[in-house]
Amino acid sequence: PADADPPAAPGPVAVLGPEPTWATAADVVVVGSGIAGLTVALRCAEAGRRTVVVTKALLDDGSTRWAQGGIAAALGPGDTPEQHRDDSLTAGAGLCDEAAVRTLVTEGPDAVRRLMATGARFDTAADGTIALTREGGHHRRRIAHAGGDATGAEISRALVAAVRAAGIEVVEHALALDLLTDADGRAAGVSLHVMGEGRHDGVGAVHAPVVVLATGGMGQVFSATTNPAVSTGDGVALALRAGAEVSDLEFVQFHPTVLWLGPDAQGQQPLISEAVRGEGAHLVDGDGGRFMVGRHELAELAPRDIVAKGIMRRMRETGASHMYLDGRHFGAAMWERRFPTILASCRSHGIDPVTEPIPVAPAAHYASGGVRTDLRGRTGVPGLYACGEVACTGVHGANRLASNSLLEGLVFA
Ligand code: SIN
Repeated sequence: PADADPPAAPGPVAVLGPEPTWATAADVVVVGSGIAGLTVALRCAEAGRRTVVVTKALLDDGSTRWAQGGIAAALGPGDTPEQHRDDSLTAGAGLCDEAAVRTLVTEGPDAVRRLMATGARFDTAADGTIALTREGGHHRRRIAHAGGDATGAEISRALVAAVRAAGIEVVEHALALDLLTDADGRAAGVSLHVMGEGRHDGVGAVHAPVVVLATGGMGQVFSATTNPAVSTGDGVALALRAGAEVSDLEFVQFHPTVLWLGPDAQGQQPLISEAVRGEGAHLVDGDGGRFMVGRHELAELAPRDIVAKGIMRRMRETGASHMYLDGRHFGAAMWERRFPTILASCRSHGIDPVTEPIPVAPAAHYASGGVRTDLRGRTGVPGLYACGEVACTGVHGANRLASNSLLEGLVFA
């Protein structure tokens, strides 16, 4: 309303409510428990640092476990980090940080191998090598996947098991409130509000000279998103209040294909992975016409922003509320083997992809920007680091290349 008070200027906020009722000390506190947060925690623990992970819900409740398509790396015969770099730069529309992209693509293959050594099991081809698929913007098959279309769930399972096995302290249901700083302005820990039981309950603090933000994205800002309920941008907010720089927040990526559940559908929507198009499904309009053919040399496998805009344009031209993804030619056996999660999710909503095209529309998916970091994850606040979706290393530019997000979390962690 016009007569409302102006919003308060951003700045450090006091811990709300009572005085902290508990505190614990560590060398490193990691806020968030997706691929980036758990990888950081494991590395720090391996290096002998006392590490505490705090997470807003449960250890495996972040975005990582929802990832379907996979993790991109130049692992296949004939592929090279340079080709992966070129595809990443093209998708980023001229706004990537080239040094960050070089780090991502050159360190990527070893980072994936390390993840496998940690216990993540990827799908293999008949000859025992890692099976690789394609997604939008990639000129090669370079996406490793697990459980067909359950890549994130497998990565999350493996990392959670490794963190538990390493005996790393975890505080669940812990919302990070603010960065604590010392007299010199260096990070000194985080204040938390924990809705748990036992030792950690109420307002508390983890004191540590190193704070790593790995809180994921902010898709819940939008009415329809692929992101889980925990993706509310609180890591970016915490960093801003602490005086860190953020950048590229305007580059919110929309995934071209979520299952269209009607005009009133809100919150987290079921993702239909780009890998479905990578394996040959077609985008069609209500008359069965392939509207992406002729719009881009890669048609349905153009970079994600181009496909999302292509769908929106066709929806406007035809007055339709959604388009369709047609994978009927896969047959039942391939749907069951390659995309069991998507098949089950569609069927639970009364759609059978084996016999009918899937109704789809774009939805908010990924924050390409975030808390500005250098190549070592450092923010402008001494002792405060960020990695994964909450961070902006510059690898994504204006538009992230498909399946570069899990890889970024892994490499920059
Ligand atoms: C997908 O499976 O389509 C999502 C992959 C990604 O966001 O990179």
